[in-house]
Amino acid sequence: MLSRTLILKTSALKPVQKLIRKSFLFRPLVKRFIAGDTLEEAMGNAQALLDKGFNVSLDNLGENTSTETEALTAKSTYIRMLDTIGLQKPEPIERCNISIKLTQCGLDLGTDYAERNYRDVLVAAQQHKNFVRVDMEASEYTARTLEIMERVLPDFTNTGTVLQSYLIRTDDDVQRMIDLKARVRLVKGAYLEPATVAYQDKKEVDAAYVRQSKRLIAEAPYAAIATHDEKIINELNAFVAEKKIDRAGFEYQMLFGIRRDLQERLRSEGYNVRVYVPFGDSWYPYFTRRLAERPANTFFILKSMFKG
Ligand code: FDA
Repeated sequence: MLSRTLILKTSALKPVQKLIRKSFLFRPLVKRFIAGDTLEEAMGNAQALLDKGFNVSLDNLGENTSTETEALTAKSTYIRMLDTIGLQKPEPIERCNISIKLTQCGLDLGTDYAERNYRDVLVAAQQHKNFVRVDMEASEYTARTLEIMERVLPDFTNTGTVLQSYLIRTDDDVQRMIDLKARVRLVKGAYLEPATVAYQDKKEVDAAYVRQSKRLIAEAPYAAIATHDEKIINELNAFVAEKKIDRAGFEYQMLFGIRRDLQERLRSEGYNVRVYVPFGDSWYPYFTRRLAERPANTFFILKSMFKG
């Protein structure tokens, strides 16, 4: 059986990258997970989801920038996304918000530099009355991302970040974000992390996810529970019912193209559901993280390749 670690490690190798990028066998899966090469295509998909009653978070794919020019290009794309949503006028506007990455804003070029770019995006979002979510990346960026968040939150209420349950530190960060009254998206975590910082056993990650979700739903403003794990979602729905927590006070989030049946079911049961809609031509790292989450996808493609 192909493991998550093996897929993440081999997909980073240059010849494998070339194979996956070029092979027509991967095309249908790329199309399923990525909402288009351009903002315009992604907006078409976003509008279709909004029409069905889902909320959306748009993500301009791409990660680390290594020059100021690249970081400024990423910043202007974020602002263009906010302007385009503003023109499309979802009601309320925040039904279509954006997710950004601080490494795209230039975190490798300096914490203060990335913070300045991020603040510029927040000013644009404030003008549109919209919200900006900061995705969480590999663990080398966690502390810096949360430090920036702590500095920015007193000035901007229209932003929040992501915590990853696989990190051993996250129970403390959940408390820290609750104290700051920050809006948090909770995920299990998608990067390859060592045992010094992250639980390696899926059972431990799942237990942390349930424990931390319950705290965020009960204690944090408008928590975002981002998972496709139906068993966990059912347990959280029972928790919400038992504690008489208002369903409107939090939302579920899922990725574009994954468990559409579950997205529909939750929506029809009256839960808020936001779909994360990624677009752009820098789709490779995002795509391989999705393959690694479900090794069966990769296994079937490889099998058909070797069948000839
Ligand atoms: P788990 O991996 O246990 O999967 C549960 C079930 O979901 C599977 O049994 C399968 O049915 C289905 N499933 C999950 N992934 C699938 C796939 N790729 N294809 C098909 N079925 C699949 N991570 C991160 O580190 N930083 C971030 O900022 C974000 N942001 C983010 C936003 C949103 C809206 C979501 C939903 C997820 C993220 N993630 C993330 C990714 C997250 O960390 C995690 O890797 C994935 O959500 C998969 O974990 P699950 O919670 O779905 O559980």
